Amino acid sequence: ATERTFSIIKPDATRRNLTGKINAVFEANGLAIVAQKRIQMTRAQAEEFYGVHRARPFFNDLVGFMISGPVVVQVLEGENAVAKNRELMGATNPANAAEGTIRKLFAESIEANSVHGSDSAENAAIEIAYFFAGSEIVG
Ligand code: CMP
Repeated sequence: ATERTFSIIKPDATRRNLTGKINAVFEANGLAIVAQKRIQMTRAQAEEFYGVHRARPFFNDLVGFMISGPVVVQVLEGENAVAKNRELMGATNPANAAEGTIRKLFAESIEANSVHGSDSAENAAIEIAYFFAGSEIVG
């Protein structure tokens, strides 16, 4: 079914001017960008967004990285968008990412891994609502 997922182009990618190249992968693979904005996340926003990881050893570094520069937050829409986007991104650690995936092509490390994508339709709805008003999403 047609569904929506939430995506972030992370600071390592915006810093290297890769926004267009990453968007081209989405668009070439049937995901439409139905909302998008470039923002500087605040520490409070990043801490809340990654709240499920608060107890992890990498949490502080992750938050510091996510506010180290601009990010592009997006809503992607298409057939099975959540799973499709995760397939296009590849494994969290670029060392384990399949050939041709965004993280294999562009990611620098497990932390600076270029993109975030929702892991379920339920989380996608929560993450989308965290960054976008309904009126900003045009399908
Ligand atoms: P993301 O999909 O945005 O969700 C959580 C992020 O934490 C993940 O991508 C990685 O960038 C980061 N992450 C996950 N595991 C580690 C790790 N072992 N060390 C550092 N960062 C990690």
